[in-house]
Amino acid sequence: MTDKKYGRLIGASLGPGDPELITRRAWTVLNGDARWLYPVKKAEESSYALSIVTRGGLEVPADAEELVFPMTRDAEILTKAWARAAARTVELLAEGRDLVFLVEGDASTFATFGHLARVVRELVPEVEVETIPGVSSFAAAAATTGTTLAEEDETLAVIPAAYGVEVIDHLLDEFDTLVLLKVKPLVDEVLELLERRELLSTSCFIEKVGSPDERIVRDVASLKGEKVNYLSLMLVQNPKRQRGELRRGCRKRKAEAEQPKETAAA
Ligand SMILES: C[S@@+](CC[C@H](N)C(=O)[O-])C[C@H]1O[C@@H](n2cnc3c(N)ncnc32)[C@H](O)[C@@H]1O
Repeated sequence: MTDKKYGRLIGASLGPGDPELITRRAWTVLNGDARWLYPVKKAEESSYALSIVTRGGLEVPADAEELVFPMTRDAEILTKAWARAAARTVELLAEGRDLVFLVEGDASTFATFGHLARVVRELVPEVEVETIPGVSSFAAAAATTGTTLAEEDETLAVIPAAYGVEVIDHLLDEFDTLVLLKVKPLVDEVLELLERRELLSTSCFIEKVGSPDERIVRDVASLKGEKVNYLSLMLVQNPKRQRGELRRGCRKRKAEAEQPKETAAA
């Protein structure tokens, strides 16, 4: 422990693209005194998270700073980039001013923020972290496409498609709805699987939901061979899934509750 007073690190979820989906809490923080940090894939490249707030009408403060998080699986490059980003964040927090890190979608869902906050706290355990929750890409995609992700006792899984089609195939037997994130490198393989499972007609593809470039593809087979954007996902529903018995008798209790009073009492 030191006597130094560090600023707070705030992860502000901005929703997946439509500035109207920025929460009031995030909006308040963005308009406050905290210094902005935003993620980019390469130095001086555009930031999708930053574009959400600028489309919402906010000006980027002159002292806003980018942090570079390269899109690579190279462990050495990643480790160096993370160390640099965390070290710079700690340096800025040591000035005593709060930092707000701009997060696309929800900050607790497959987001850079969780990792950044963890590394920062490893370096300086006393740093206070606040996570402002937000609208995830798949919640917005479901709303835009009129898809119900789950109701009653249905099951829902959210996974990165990178686990591969064998895993997705297996999960289709366990879940009524699958949300496949990071689907870009596997689109063709997923389409083959959906065709085999006769689920093409209950699947939907959504790219850059909520942004001016939003694209919804219901005829998912038409995507075959296409290079899609990284910011894209698939919602897959399996209406043919065989469900097991519910352990706690939810269905039974519900059926009893729905019976007319006299019948139930008889
Ligand atoms: C690193 S994860 C970020 C998830 C994000 N934090 C969220 O709450 O949705 C990136 C993946 O999320 C999905 N994604 C994020 N933003 C999206 C958008 N605007 N439209 C469609 N998919 C999106 C894509 O599958 C993308 O590959």
